[in-house]
Amino acid sequence: MWWENEFLKVKDQKLYLGRRRADRLAGEHGTPLLVYDQRQILSNYHRLKRIFSECRPRELRICYAMKANPHRKILQTLRQKGAWVDAVSPGEVEAALRAGFPGRRILFTGTSVSEEDLHRAFGVDGLTVNIDALEQLELMKEVKKKFYRGKEIRVSVRWNPGLGRGFNPRVVTAGKRAPDGTPVKFGVEEAKVLETFEKAACFGFRPVGLHQHLGSGWTAEDYGVVRQAVERIIKMAGRVEKAGFTLDFLDFGGGFGPRYARNETVFPLQEYASHICCQVARSGLSVNALVVEPGKYLVADAGVLLLKVEYLKESYGQLFACVNSGTYTSLPRPAIYHAYHEIVNCSRLRSHNMKPVTVAGNLCETGDVFGKEIPMPVPKRGDILAVLCAGAYGRSMASTFNLRGIPREIFI
Ligand SMILES: Cc1ncc(COP(=O)(O)O)c(C=O)c1O
Repeated sequence: MWWENEFLKVKDQKLYLGRRRADRLAGEHGTPLLVYDQRQILSNYHRLKRIFSECRPRELRICYAMKANPHRKILQTLRQKGAWVDAVSPGEVEAALRAGFPGRRILFTGTSVSEEDLHRAFGVDGLTVNIDALEQLELMKEVKKKFYRGKEIRVSVRWNPGLGRGFNPRVVTAGKRAPDGTPVKFGVEEAKVLETFEKAACFGFRPVGLHQHLGSGWTAEDYGVVRQAVERIIKMAGRVEKAGFTLDFLDFGGGFGPRYARNETVFPLQEYASHICCQVARSGLSVNALVVEPGKYLVADAGVLLLKVEYLKESYGQLFACVNSGTYTSLPRPAIYHAYHEIVNCSRLRSHNMKPVTVAGNLCETGDVFGKEIPMPVPKRGDILAVLCAGAYGRSMASTFNLRGIPREIFI
């Protein structure tokens, strides 16, 4: 199957997660169940390092966007390999600290930050605060003056390069407006970037980096725009250096990930990495480190969601497999972003009786479907279905909508 990897394998028409049969794991631990594999995460991490190895002698920092999946074991695994972490709230910063990340390997990229958020972030020695707005600096100045006078606080500037890309308007995080017309709230506009650096320095902060994040879930069609945005941030970094600031790092954000669907055109990651490395080398910039901030790339394909079919239902010519969990409570992406996830029947991967099946969750909303009219062997009551690529933005986005429970998580 196109989705097989070190974690997911098919043997004798059965789905295996590592060495374990998926349906047996479901029987042992119950469903719904999120199953993760540390080895797949490590394999993704090492592959990414290799892909960016041409950037040497500059340091490559892989800064894990922990919003994708803040499970402590995942954080510990990546921390042990030298990863950094991108945290977007004090709660995430504190989870990273509990997993053993030193403050100097944490980037705090907040939005609409409050006095309390800043107080909690400034209290962490060595942490870098990624500034989202020039206007945020007054508040930062007050908090520093009140509680952290004299303390060295590293800051970077998240700029909005005027271009963004993502698989759904809700996750396009740069440009003036998302494709559905929503004004983009993130980052500092071009005309205010130098002023943000200057004001930050003037208020006693230590500016050390420039950052952008264009959006999430890129495919090959996004590459042209992403390339342009790489050129834009390098040009902007040149202006920042020319204005007298020394940049420790240049952060290109996340956005690239594994393939979710067979017909998806895959984002050319190797070309992207080469473009970054080559453009930075040519630019004459003196930055020490290049940063990428992946969430999905590291963890999405290292997780699956196992669900039990409670019964089959036919209505107006449609066939529904009614399962024992809901999208919002276990993997909200299909409901909120219309995201595609491959779904397979763990016990019978192929059959002559293939039909389009809509996998319906147990929540009170029409949008609560894991997959629409997916061709698969017609499931039976009690069959276990696996929703693939469930390692990112599953558990971390899950809610208790309808007062339903959130799935257990296990590692194999
Ligand atoms: C600031 C920032 N960095 C990185 C990411 C990671 O994106 P992805 O999981 O697509 O790599 C996100 C996701 O929303 C983000 O907001």
